[in-house]
Amino acid sequence: MVTKTLFGKTVNGKSVYKYTISSSELEVSILSFGATIQSIIVKNPTPVDVVLGYDDVLSYQTQDGYLGATCGRNSNRIENAKFTLNGITYNLAVNDGKKHNLHGGNVGFSHRVWLEEEVGENFIILSLLSKHLEEGFPANLNVKVKFSLDGENLSIEYFGLSDGDTVFNPTNHSYFNLDGHDTHTGHSNLLNIYSNYLTETNEELIPTGVLVNVNGTPLDFTSFKAISKDINSSYYLIENMHGYDGNYCLSSDGKLSLCARAYSQKTGVLMSVYTDRPGVQLYTGYFLTERKGKNGATYVPNSSFCLETQVYPNAVNNPNFEGAFIKANEPFYSKTVYGFAVTKDIL
Ligand code: GLA
Repeated sequence: MVTKTLFGKTVNGKSVYKYTISSSELEVSILSFGATIQSIIVKNPTPVDVVLGYDDVLSYQTQDGYLGATCGRNSNRIENAKFTLNGITYNLAVNDGKKHNLHGGNVGFSHRVWLEEEVGENFIILSLLSKHLEEGFPANLNVKVKFSLDGENLSIEYFGLSDGDTVFNPTNHSYFNLDGHDTHTGHSNLLNIYSNYLTETNEELIPTGVLVNVNGTPLDFTSFKAISKDINSSYYLIENMHGYDGNYCLSSDGKLSLCARAYSQKTGVLMSVYTDRPGVQLYTGYFLTERKGKNGATYVPNSSFCLETQVYPNAVNNPNFEGAFIKANEPFYSKTVYGFAVTKDIL
């Protein structure tokens, strides 16, 4: 079932709608601002909201954290905010420090009002047109994102079609805390990532091109461990990333595959993430300064985590990293699923 309510208006007077999709296991709210996941309530046995969010449009418009948002055209960073395609160099909006492009630029998909394309029994489809040279990216790009609920699974499907070769690398930027969004204890959640390699980054979080074997290092999540366990290690990459803020390499090979699981020993919520993308960014919220969240919550840095499915960061500037570009008139499709079970037994 889907219900639609007016969530509020942007400072420019545009209406923002909230779509709440329910199954017997979950209740998920999506906003037309930023195609944003505003809440994910795992209903049983005791309802718990496992993502951070706000309860007004202004907070979403002015926020720097991308809470729950769909990021695009390109999620993560593009070094020096430029790339070359078909012999032309494109200069992008600089919005990460003084040099780089992050999550699509100053007004990326995360900060736009999306159109309602279709509402079904258990899904909604939102769309937008990203125009040629918006934030510096070439070609007109039509984007659709479908959010659907099937029992305990929330699927996010991305569709794109452009009239010229361009970049398209969307993600969802939800911050999870499976203890409950308002508890500050998300780093006690256990995490397991199905990956042996991380794209090494420099201090500006730009990949060096080297893939680091994580086995036996503080980056290793090949079996469940608390996110907090090694987060204060003096390992050089943990220091560069201020905790975790890096891309784990996946071997999904374009097929929807399990890439990560997270578990709360407090609520018993087990989240499983499936994707067809080649990478997933684990980000543990270092930059998320203290702020007011929904329902009177306060959010503090380093207390939640994101699992952003994507192509490797800065792939547009690294010929060894795949999937950076899409071709004119060739439909793009990608899928990521976040599943939420409640269980006492994760082994
Ligand atoms: C991503 C990046 C982080 C940070 C956040 C937004 O996850 O990897 O470094 O910029 O977005 O605050």
